[in-house]
Amino acid sequence: MRTQVLIIGGGPSGLLLSQLLDKKGIDTLVLERKTRDYVLSRIRAGILEQGFVQLMREAGVSSRMDKECFVHDGTVIASGEEQFRIDFTEHTGTPVVVYGQTELTRDLYDAREAAGGKIIFEVEGVEIHDARTDKPYVTFSKDGVEQRIDADYIAGCDGFHGVSRQSIPLDVRREYEKIYPFGWLGILSETPPVHHELIYSASERGFSLCSMRNDNLSRYYIQCSLSDSPSDWSDQLFWDELKRRMPSAYADKLVTGPSIEKSIAPLRSFVTEPMRWGRLFLCGDAAHIVPPTGAKGLNTAASDIHYLYHGLVDAILEGDNEGLDRYSEKALARIWKAERFSWWMTSLLHRFPDQNDFDLKMQGAELTFLQSNREAQSAMAQNYVGLPY
Ligand code: APR
Ligand code: PHB
Repeated sequence: MRTQVLIIGGGPSGLLLSQLLDKKGIDTLVLERKTRDYVLSRIRAGILEQGFVQLMREAGVSSRMDKECFVHDGTVIASGEEQFRIDFTEHTGTPVVVYGQTELTRDLYDAREAAGGKIIFEVEGVEIHDARTDKPYVTFSKDGVEQRIDADYIAGCDGFHGVSRQSIPLDVRREYEKIYPFGWLGILSETPPVHHELIYSASERGFSLCSMRNDNLSRYYIQCSLSDSPSDWSDQLFWDELKRRMPSAYADKLVTGPSIEKSIAPLRSFVTEPMRWGRLFLCGDAAHIVPPTGAKGLNTAASDIHYLYHGLVDAILEGDNEGLDRYSEKALARIWKAERFSWWMTSLLHRFPDQNDFDLKMQGAELTFLQSNREAQSAMAQNYVGLPY
């Protein structure tokens, strides 16, 4: 079998790339290790930058998103009982869009299916061969049968634990990583959101975040210990702790209910360089991870897809390789800025186990500066809504 662009990984990165290329008449094939239902059971973030929204529109998969999304013009930042609001639209002219990654991925799967897109699920043992030649190919097994697919290009969209990044030899690859000494315990509950915008809260007891999916589906997080497991946290314990970490004005009106999902995610910053090796191009979580505090995970994936999509279209349809040759450089320039923002927001709002009194004062001063300084708020807003591609 052969295809023009072989895409490893059927998460949002791989599906969006496949859908965009298909619109240009470029043939793709997606290999996914899990089932569609499994991919759609993963609960992830749901804040989209305008760049992502534009790509979804360009890919022709925006109709449900445009109808059901919430547009947010700002966010609340709280510290103890103090709170202030940063107005994205006032500072940047641009809001963000709230639309869950699960729904977005479902829309992409539906669109690929409707277009007769080729996706092979439950593949095992994917291996990339001859990526440095102009005849790369991939082998894998499906239902115990070995298969081979030849391609012109390979997109490694297989997430942090995928094979694509590992296929780049260690002497070529440089990895940068920071592991944070805490996690986020998140719950989803069929209750109305406590506020119409997100509330990022710093408190002496640790960070918390109030987010949402729709009018009757809320997503809440609290910073937790890495040794905690979700079963340590009954719903009651979670709600009690969340209330202690937010200003009482919100805690008093929080509507609680049974959780329909509860999980813990560790926090990590990670970047691999380069993002291209021969005809293999890494995208999304395969190349970089951000802590969730700035809501940049999905959005950094989108900017990679933007650069790679245009690079592939120019190369395949026009014979112009400049976009592909500059892919790694362009993608990484934007990634590092998103890494900085996510690290900054994480450092600003969480309690770190080794913080001394001086560190706490610095954190407090940084928050007061943000609260009182227009330019600082403008810088936050520009990063939150997404820097230009
Ligand atoms: N072979 C085939 N598929 C694989 C392999 C493999 N060896 N390894 C992983 N996969 C699949 C996973 O099962 C998953 O469905 O690749 C997909 C990768 O999807 P994500 O992990 O969601 O990564 P990505 O598509 O880059 O999405 C961007 O950024 O911060 C996050 O929340 C954000 O998940 C979002 C991600
Ligand atoms: C979410 O809604 O899941 C969410 C929102 C904002 C973040 C992280 C997660 O920064």
